[in-house]
Amino acid sequence: MPSDSQFHAIRVTAERDEHQVEMATMSLNDLMPGDVTVKVKYSSLNYKDALAITGRSPVIRRFPLVPGIDFAGTVVESDANAFAVGDDVILTGWGVGESHDGGFAEYARVKSEWLSPVPAGLTVSTAMSMGTAGFTAMLCVLALEENGVRPDSGEVLVTGASGGVGSIAVMLLSGAGYSVTASTGRVDEAPLLRELGATDVIDRTEFVQPLRPLGRSRWAAAIDVAGSVTLANVLSQMNRGGVVAACGLAHGMDLPTTVAPFILRGVRLIGIDSVMCPSGLRDAAWQRLASELSAAALDQVTSHIPLKDVIPMATEMLDGHTKGRIVVDVESS
Ligand SMILES: NC(=O)c1ccc[n+]([C@@H]2O[C@H](COP(=O)([O-])OP(=O)(O)OC[C@H]3O[C@@H](n4cnc5c(N)ncnc54)[C@H](OP(=O)(O)O)[C@@H]3O)[C@@H](O)[C@H]2O)c1
Repeated sequence: MPSDSQFHAIRVTAERDEHQVEMATMSLNDLMPGDVTVKVKYSSLNYKDALAITGRSPVIRRFPLVPGIDFAGTVVESDANAFAVGDDVILTGWGVGESHDGGFAEYARVKSEWLSPVPAGLTVSTAMSMGTAGFTAMLCVLALEENGVRPDSGEVLVTGASGGVGSIAVMLLSGAGYSVTASTGRVDEAPLLRELGATDVIDRTEFVQPLRPLGRSRWAAAIDVAGSVTLANVLSQMNRGGVVAACGLAHGMDLPTTVAPFILRGVRLIGIDSVMCPSGLRDAAWQRLASELSAAALDQVTSHIPLKDVIPMATEMLDGHTKGRIVVDVESS
């Protein structure tokens, strides 16, 4: 493709400190440097993208920028030995969509070390149905296992269960033989959550009660996407030696807890960072996703939107009106 031919993209600018986002046309000359150029087929709308697009949190660290923290597509130019033209690749994290042009554009140019080959058995479409959310859910499961949690340890709680990370965490855990309780603000989604493998579904208001340093022991392990008072309540309800993988802030960035769960029950709180996850762990997580996550189950929680719908959908997401995974069909802009 000639370097000056035009393609569609979403672009965020900050003229005179005013956050603005628009559908734009760009050329390859406009993209930031990198040794591999990818024809983006799919991206996805994640909570962090919604924050970046709306400007509700300072996710974007340089302007102008193409947002989109993940994408999958096909290599069209490569100066890197690791990738050849025609290779199908996936990218999540590494600051893409935050400080480097991201996936909400028909082309992306990135550093080759940020790319992973689409694992055998997955298509670019399925890989992006998993995307950052699936990858993060898998990192959470790996963290629980690394800390000794096994299916016979007891009940595992997943918060934000109807969201992207939460729904995939429910699928992965139940598929691996765990008994999973799904916490959700949308109890009308209980039938679907049970179909995904939850043994029990509870209302998330249970985790916004006034905090007690220690509550009734209920959970052997937990995957939390919410943070804030939700995570504080989860911590207070952990069994002795329980393990919590914390990856999100959908409720809030704060954590108003006490040391009681840690020093009186030996609870372990493990932080999950998918963005800078090292390559070895990254590859292991993708291999596990490819072998353990059923494409049919994933379809049940995946919807598709064209690039032009991303901007309005970002506000819908932050207002709690979206569910599951939202894949962006970048070519149908
Ligand atoms: N650490 C990392 O590397 C990493 C990677 C990916 C995502 N994340 C973070 O993980 C979180 C989830 O991401 P996502 O892409 O899955 O977002 P998402 O699809 O929007 O899911 C978030 C879910 O959280 C629940 N929720 C919303 N507001 C809440 C509140 N006030 N209190 C409790 N629960 C609430 C909702 O589920 P219910 O309606 O079922 O309650 C919602 O669907 C975000 O904070 C995101 O930034 C972090």
